[in-house]
Amino acid sequence: MPDLEAFIRGLPKAELHLHIEGSLEPEQMFEFARRNGIELPFADVEAVRAAYAFSNLQDFLDIYYQGARVLLTERDFHDLALAYFRRVAEDGATHAEIFFDPQTHTERGVAFATVAEGLLAAMEEARTTLGVTSKLILCFLRHLSEEAAFETLNQARPYLDRIAGVGLDSSELGHPPSKFARVFAAAREQGLKLVAHAGEEGPPEYVREALDLLRVDRIDHGNRSLEDADLVKRLVAEAVPLTVCPLSNLKLCVVDELPSHPLKRMLRLGLKATINSDDPAYFGGYLAENWISTAHALGLTRDELVTLARNSFTGSFLTPGEIESRLVEVDLYAAAHAPA
Ligand code: ADE
Ligand code: ZN
Repeated sequence: MPDLEAFIRGLPKAELHLHIEGSLEPEQMFEFARRNGIELPFADVEAVRAAYAFSNLQDFLDIYYQGARVLLTERDFHDLALAYFRRVAEDGATHAEIFFDPQTHTERGVAFATVAEGLLAAMEEARTTLGVTSKLILCFLRHLSEEAAFETLNQARPYLDRIAGVGLDSSELGHPPSKFARVFAAAREQGLKLVAHAGEEGPPEYVREALDLLRVDRIDHGNRSLEDADLVKRLVAEAVPLTVCPLSNLKLCVVDELPSHPLKRMLRLGLKATINSDDPAYFGGYLAENWISTAHALGLTRDELVTLARNSFTGSFLTPGEIESRLVEVDLYAAAHAPA
């Protein structure tokens, strides 16, 4: 259905769940390794792609952290982010809120400033040259300690006026949100927005903890919330955005096949779901691919697609005034492309 694909590509939308390290394409991995004099344990790009067969989140994380070792200089972080912004602009995104994992880099001796300066420069360039606005979200690695997260928040201090919020990612099982309650409280006191991965592999209780103990503004993934009817009621009543990642869920075996993905069910329940790419270089598709594959697999209607686009802006950290104008753009597009 080329009509549907064209409609999706042109629909103004935001991406709210994207790990910038997860946009590292194998070609770039080789380029950065070459210019930084790093040996890769792969013969070529095909061998890298062949290694991208995962049976769970940890399988993926092991290879994702290995890939990130090629990122060393401000230029690497800039080039990585700018390549992502170019891709997502082609997909019709006009806004992106991107995660970065500073601990993955500072643990290897790369300064926080190197990472932040490179990313922030690309964000500014994306705004001026592509018309894509963006926000930066610092993620704490949940397999590390809360003390290490505090240290990272401390390193971020000079950049807090340019960082929109903090998040929580990496290995979910065995690392509940409760482990990070104090550092999230400290981030909240600094005026930062709060998000956390919860309910990707972890139980509904982790989603409750993210809401009650971390007091997050949105939930990243949230799939397993559907196992708990009271939790669903609460997420609907509080209009908590869920940043859902269909192709990621497929690749990490959170769902068996795309037609059984819960996104349509989430929308029918009144949950504020959005579509996102998570780690597109590893999961086989950027933002529009996620939208198009999901629309085909679940038979999403045009009204549902417009709802998803609206959710991507109402769930964003843009100001209320900015959100209003983005919604006008969505509605104008929908009206101009209404079926005859
Ligand atoms: N880091 C990068 N992608 C992630 C995901 N989908 N879940 C948890 N941590 C991640
Ligand atoms: Zn993620």
